Amino acid sequence: MKAYKLHDPKNLDNFKLGTYDEPHVHDHEVKIQVKAVSLNYRDWALANGWFGYPGEKLPMIPFSDAAGVVTEVGASVTKVQVGDRVAVNFFPDWHDGAFSSAKTHRSLGGSTDGVLAEYVAFDEDAVVKVSDSFSFEEAAAFPCAGVTAWHSLVTQAQLRPGDTVLLQGTGGVSIFGLQIAKLFGAQVIITSSSDEKLAQAKALGADHLINYKQTPNWEDKARELTQGEGVGYVLEVAGQLASSLRALKAGGTIFQIGAVSPSDEAPNLRMLPLATQRLQGIYVGSAQMLADLFKAFDANQLKPVIGQVFDFANVKDALAHMGNGAHFGKIVVRVG
Ligand SMILES: NC(=O)c1ccc[n+]([C@@H]2O[C@H](COP(=O)([O-])OP(=O)(O)OC[C@H]3O[C@@H](n4cnc5c(N)ncnc54)[C@H](OP(=O)(O)O)[C@@H]3O)[C@@H](O)[C@H]2O)c1
Repeated sequence: MKAYKLHDPKNLDNFKLGTYDEPHVHDHEVKIQVKAVSLNYRDWALANGWFGYPGEKLPMIPFSDAAGVVTEVGASVTKVQVGDRVAVNFFPDWHDGAFSSAKTHRSLGGSTDGVLAEYVAFDEDAVVKVSDSFSFEEAAAFPCAGVTAWHSLVTQAQLRPGDTVLLQGTGGVSIFGLQIAKLFGAQVIITSSSDEKLAQAKALGADHLINYKQTPNWEDKARELTQGEGVGYVLEVAGQLASSLRALKAGGTIFQIGAVSPSDEAPNLRMLPLATQRLQGIYVGSAQMLADLFKAFDANQLKPVIGQVFDFANVKDALAHMGNGAHFGKIVVRVG
């Protein structure tokens, strides 16, 4: 089979296409012919060697998000059949329940081989069936970004109509956050560097738009838009915790997710007790959350937002596209 591997040392020159044996299927595993994969910011950062995982073994198959068709099942598999359409969870060992270090020790395309290959094999509990209403490209968009937003806004926040949610930028996590927040009747304030992208966000239901280039103190604007009260929830992906805290209302929660831009200001955490605010770390989520996310989108005829689709031969172009920040929503690669 054809697969990409990231070799040592990690950089874009060492991101190479090769020919390898197809994976062997163990008793509890299913083999999947991969039809599409999607990119996350982490894939770009890893491919550039910006960080590594403890115990990572190179060369490694990169990327975490895939959808495809089951072509073989192990002797003990009961939940999935040959021919089923499935997507793969970011953490192959976090099937259900709360976070634990053991469940999140292995992450696809990080601390263990990922999905940028024509065939992959995973435990049956690490995969989720996908309804026929989603194309493979759409299904591959859900796992990392979608589950991260779902885990924050639904599992943790238990979002209610009228809640206010602040989203930073228009990348994968934020656009899933927008769709999920609107599904639950929340008010959404979204920021972006681009008025064109803000117009796209408005078309998806965003209530208030802030261009963070034109309005660097976007947190003041967010407070103003909430009549001085502040927002209930922030999906903090920008690395701007100090500003996000200033935008947060008393009793509100910041979900600390990522940091796409360097922060030059230390957050003032001393007021957290007086304002009974929470800072909650989020690390993607379980296969059950992925299944719930698929069901919620399916039941409401929602589709994930895909900015651009690339062919398997052009994965490096897809990475470059992510690197220059031109995308809106998800970037997907068609496999095979
Ligand atoms: N903890 C977790 O489990 C988890 C899971 C998924 C992702 N993450 C992290 O979350 C972050 C986002 O991931 P992603 O895959 O959604 O990335 P992405 O699709 O590449 O989106 C990044 C977006 O961030 C926006 N942005 C850039 N600089 C910004 C700034 N100074 N202020 C506000 N927004 C800014 C840009 O939006 P505009 O173009 O609209 O300006 C850009 O499109 C990354 O740090 C990633 O590692 C963490």
